[in-house]
Amino acid sequence: MKVFSSLLIFLGILAIGSTDGDEEFANYNVTNRKYPDGFKFGVATAAYQIEGAWNLDGKGEQIWDTFFHEHPERSNDGTNGDVATDSYHLYKEDIRCMKEVGVDYYRLSIAWSRLLPDGTIDNVNKNAKNYYTSLFEELRANGIEVMVTLYHWDLPTALEKQGGWLNPQVVDWFTDYATLCYHLYGTYVKDWVTINEPKQICHVGYGDGGYAPGVRSPGVGEYTCARHILLAHAKAWRVFDTQYRPTLKSRNTIVVDSDWYEPATSADEEAAETKLQFVHGMYMHPIVFGNWPQIMIDNVAKFSQVQGFNESRLPAFSNEEIELIKGTFDFIAINHYTTYMVKARSQPSYAVSWVADSGVDSYQKDTWETAAIGWFKKVPWGFGKLLRWLRKTYGDLEIVVTENGVSDRDGSLQDQHRIEYIKNYMSHLIDAIHDGVRVTSYTLWSIIDNFEWTQGFNGKLGIYFVNQSDPNLPRIAKDSSRYYANVIKTKCLLDQCVDN
Ligand SMILES: *[C@@H]1O[C@H](CO)[C@@H](O)[C@H](O)[C@H]1NC(C)=O
Ligand SMILES: *[C@@H]1O[C@H](CO)[C@@H](O)[C@H](O)[C@H]1NC(C)=O
Ligand SMILES: *[C@@H]1O[C@H](CO)[C@@H](O)[C@H](O)[C@H]1NC(C)=O
Repeated sequence: MKVFSSLLIFLGILAIGSTDGDEEFANYNVTNRKYPDGFKFGVATAAYQIEGAWNLDGKGEQIWDTFFHEHPERSNDGTNGDVATDSYHLYKEDIRCMKEVGVDYYRLSIAWSRLLPDGTIDNVNKNAKNYYTSLFEELRANGIEVMVTLYHWDLPTALEKQGGWLNPQVVDWFTDYATLCYHLYGTYVKDWVTINEPKQICHVGYGDGGYAPGVRSPGVGEYTCARHILLAHAKAWRVFDTQYRPTLKSRNTIVVDSDWYEPATSADEEAAETKLQFVHGMYMHPIVFGNWPQIMIDNVAKFSQVQGFNESRLPAFSNEEIELIKGTFDFIAINHYTTYMVKARSQPSYAVSWVADSGVDSYQKDTWETAAIGWFKKVPWGFGKLLRWLRKTYGDLEIVVTENGVSDRDGSLQDQHRIEYIKNYMSHLIDAIHDGVRVTSYTLWSIIDNFEWTQGFNGKLGIYFVNQSDPNLPRIAKDSSRYYANVIKTKCLLDQCVDN
């Protein structure tokens, strides 16, 4: 008996040393399989990062205008999005680039405060209405399909002054704005995204305060925000589903971003799954199944009690709210950039925060190649693992990759590192398709270098360089734009592929 248990311990130690993705994919070769027929390729941007014209033609102020105007030092190079790439005036240049690359669709966002300067439908800005119509007309004339994000982080400042995403009224503010957009632009838009990356909005915007509006309320406000995001999405989706879908035949969903979380050892598998539930499941689980993931309900309740709160810091959904939220998606939309390793914690941290509530530690390996932005490590195999996890977790659902890409600081036209990133990430995507994951589209971030939030113009992710030293802000093709164009044309990541 004693010998037997020692043997088990010995086997357990062997298992702890088991392989992670680095070893599993050590000799990985980019696939020579083609993308399947009908697979679609796109590029993405967001209003604040490209439009500029921050106060022109009746646009209202939004939280990122305020965030950088009040504190210029909040961006890495002291810049802001007041002019950005001036796509408000130069959108035809952007579309010319897209045409050159041959994309099937363009994912862009509407600036809420441009259309509704004070955030409410009491006051519609006619110039903005016409601007977006011209933009959509130009895309239509060029045969480029449209995917619209309604909310890419730019809450009208007038609404933030009333509490923003922490005020329950935001659910109706957002639904009114969304409904107006369906009404005005429904005939141009093939796919709608209500909200982009709630994780960044809530945990950075209202948790640690690193993003606009800069509210610090870890472990409390960040959950209130998440609850309102889910209700706003759900209500806006229901309006679309009942009133617009029948005639428009378009689709609607939410974008939930997720890194991949790889267990550090086989003893950390549960910890990695917990982290994935806190990061991705927190938003997608309610939308697919109707409530927060059970592990979140349990963990936050347990931690809140230890911390002396009289109830869980994770606000509960009523049965009606669960019914409202459940099923409000037409496909899974995922933004993905990088990977973390996860280790279970031997001692829980009882800090009051969403990060601590997961009860695990995560880190990135020094051996992983770093892109210009620090957290941005290149780990292509993590993408394939995330896609397989989505299928395992939510079932055989259609998945659209709504963002993927890589940064550098100089915007070099010879961006071989970006070609390697795209090639390898896109290769793991093809492998996932061959394993039965139903991915139908891939969106590269971004068509042009643009204003990368707190990175300013120092984090460049475009396949076209925008020359900020030239007053005309010309767009110039990088090598990666020619590579992506060729992938779109041949469906092949290498010089030659085998036929499907
Ligand atoms: C990748 O290609 C090399 C050279 O052809 C080969 O030796 C290696 O086994 C391949 N790796 C895998 C995982 O198939
Ligand atoms: C818990 O405390 C807060 C204030 O600290 C109070 O508003 C709330 O009603 C209390 N909840 C319960 C269930 O007692
Ligand atoms: C950017 O513009 C400046 C000023 O016109 C010019 O000197 C420079 O060569 C341009 N850079 C590129 C890569 O075109």
